[in-house]
Amino acid sequence: MTKLMLRALAGETLPTPPIWMMRQAGRYLPEYRATRAKAGDFLSLCYNPDLAAEVTLQPIRRYGFDAAILFADILLLPQALGADLWFVTGEGPRLSTISGPEDMRGLKGKDDIHEHLAPVYETVRILSRELPSETTLIGFAGAPWTVATYMIAGRSTPDQRPAHALREGDPRCFDVLMDLLTESTIEYLSMQIEAGAEVVKLFDSWAGSLKGAAFAKYALEPAKRIISALKERHPGIPIIAFPREAGEGYVGFAKATGADCLAIDNSVSATWAAEHLQGDSCIQGNLASRHMVTGGQDLIDETRAIVEALKNGPHIFNLGHGITPDADPENVQLMIDTVRGV
Ligand code: CP3
Repeated sequence: MTKLMLRALAGETLPTPPIWMMRQAGRYLPEYRATRAKAGDFLSLCYNPDLAAEVTLQPIRRYGFDAAILFADILLLPQALGADLWFVTGEGPRLSTISGPEDMRGLKGKDDIHEHLAPVYETVRILSRELPSETTLIGFAGAPWTVATYMIAGRSTPDQRPAHALREGDPRCFDVLMDLLTESTIEYLSMQIEAGAEVVKLFDSWAGSLKGAAFAKYALEPAKRIISALKERHPGIPIIAFPREAGEGYVGFAKATGADCLAIDNSVSATWAAEHLQGDSCIQGNLASRHMVTGGQDLIDETRAIVEALKNGPHIFNLGHGITPDADPENVQLMIDTVRGV
């Protein structure tokens, strides 16, 4: 029998949706914190295939999720392209910045990334050997716009202002960066697929700050280019797109880009998604992450409401965004039991 996750991605309506969770390998789990300490720090963990595979497997062993997501980070690709990258504890990522064409000259080409990323491909190979036969392996990358926001500003930004400023102030330079990211993301995901990823997901975490024509040009178009290139090279590979907080931009996104599944955040309701989105593709989502902290009857009610709203079409249960470090591991079990009706 084919894996549940792959059946939902192929468009099947299932009696119980498959389930996994964004950031399922993460700091809310004591076993993750222990392995990260063994690796030394977060980036050393990402580049250690045995330990990265180990943390990927931890939530599968603990909870039996239907899918495992490769443990890595969207910022490894800019690092492979030559950007400096480091993480400040308690604050987040820092990168060298891009403010104009002179900063682009130091970057490598799309075909020069694989030596740096070889440990990630090795992690995928280990996982495709070691995962239980019913568990689907998801590879991923950041979408070009989201990765560009980090490369331009050198850090997380609340409103992506530096990236918007470059996009408007020096569109030629910005377009060169977007092209490089689009092309190298195709190469990166293609290698993950060759190593054994069965699905790939494109995270456009900051898509919500692009509006109108800018959303079409910098969120939708790159996703379409990446998806069509991957489908040409790897016919049948299922792809999940996550243009987070796209709002009305979600409508038609799967159809226009060729994505098999649209992941939605919790700023839109599951009933709205069932009506306006699920006719085009499988829907993934969208329980608010705070329920993993607060638990209780609200978690149960909200989980049931989402399953109920999306039950007449293909659905993969997930959170609307990543689980946070202050979550209680028992609430994750409660969510899974509620979805599976046990
Ligand atoms: O379990 C999984 O979901 C797989 C691994 C994964 C990580 N990051 C591990 C991680 C995935 C898929 C990502 C994607 C990612 N990384 C995104 C897109 C999804 C999203 O959350 O919107 C983004 C924007 C990043 C960049 C990034 N990485 C930031 C901004 C941070 C710091 C914020 C934070 O949560 O601490 C990270 C660090 C990071 N990536 C951690 C993990 C488990 C925490 C690092 C640690 O252990 O100290």
